[in-house]
Amino acid sequence: MFIVTGATGQLGHAIVRKLVEQVPAAEVGATCREPEKAADLAALGVRVRPGDFGDPESLALAFEGARQVLIVSSNARAYGGDTLTQHRNAIDAARAAGAERIVYTSQMAARATSAFPPMHDHAATEDMLRDCGLAWTALRHGFYASSGIAMLGEALKTGVMETAQDGPVAWTAHADLAEAAAIILAQTARESGPTPPLTGPEALDFGDLAAIASDLSGKPISRRIVADDALQAKLAERGTPGPVAAIVLGLYRAARAGEFANVDPTLERLLGRKPISMRDVMAAHIAED
Ligand SMILES: NC(=O)c1ccc[n+]([C@@H]2O[C@H](COP(=O)([O-])OP(=O)(O)OC[C@H]3O[C@@H](n4cnc5c(N)ncnc54)[C@H](OP(=O)(O)O)[C@@H]3O)[C@@H](O)[C@H]2O)c1
Repeated sequence: MFIVTGATGQLGHAIVRKLVEQVPAAEVGATCREPEKAADLAALGVRVRPGDFGDPESLALAFEGARQVLIVSSNARAYGGDTLTQHRNAIDAARAAGAERIVYTSQMAARATSAFPPMHDHAATEDMLRDCGLAWTALRHGFYASSGIAMLGEALKTGVMETAQDGPVAWTAHADLAEAAAIILAQTARESGPTPPLTGPEALDFGDLAAIASDLSGKPISRRIVADDALQAKLAERGTPGPVAAIVLGLYRAARAGEFANVDPTLERLLGRKPISMRDVMAAHIAED
């Protein structure tokens, strides 16, 4: 079976829906913490079982019969949890279930020296995969376009986008990454390792995003750049937890160091079409509002 974790999250859910277009639904298992939220997947004929990375017993049942396991990365660290123990539990459970291959949702800047803290966990998880004895693929995702839009959220209301100095980011749509994951899962693995960066079609900074948002909404949005220290103080004033503030500031630092700037043709090749642009993701978001 093909097992996909995080099946009620944005990415995992979209991967399951794309996977059943590639392989029979009876060969797909979806795992999540609240299976009642995955009724639409069960209705497709997908096996839905509860699975929590913090509960190895649940994973043993959730991964039963697995030939491949796609692990959607956890963001537990942002909320005081232990991401690496969770990923270790998932990898161990995949091996114990007899899986031949693990596919993991990493990110394009995965390295221990990244200025963006979540990259350290991605790099450490890729190291675990390298040592796990199974075939593995780390999907080196571009930065999620939805994260950029979430960061633009307030500006769409106030007309002012306040950020630290940033840099170009190859924003990438969930829908494209989900489709690529389903294609990669359905292919027989040729070799283990990370993919090239799977990115959207262009790299844009927050000034570019503000300009696109102004254009699409018909509302002027100005850009204000604040010093890192000032932004850190504002985040603390608003009661933003320390790890979350470190992620926000780390994103700007990594972006201005060019960690997410590389636009790579691999996603377009996999999909056989141009990846979705940030402008299209934003237009859909504004239309929904
Ligand atoms: N590349 C990027 O730019 C980027 C940006 C943001 C996040 N990320 C990473 O990508 C992941 C997926 O993103 P997303 O947009 O799909 O986020 P999301 O909608 O928040 O989904 C996160 C998923 O992680 C699952 N999860 C959390 N804790 C878990 C646990 N203890 N055991 C099992 N599953 C657990 C959740 O499970 P439930 O469905 O059961 O709640 C949920 O399905 C995130 O978790 C984060 O690691 C990447």
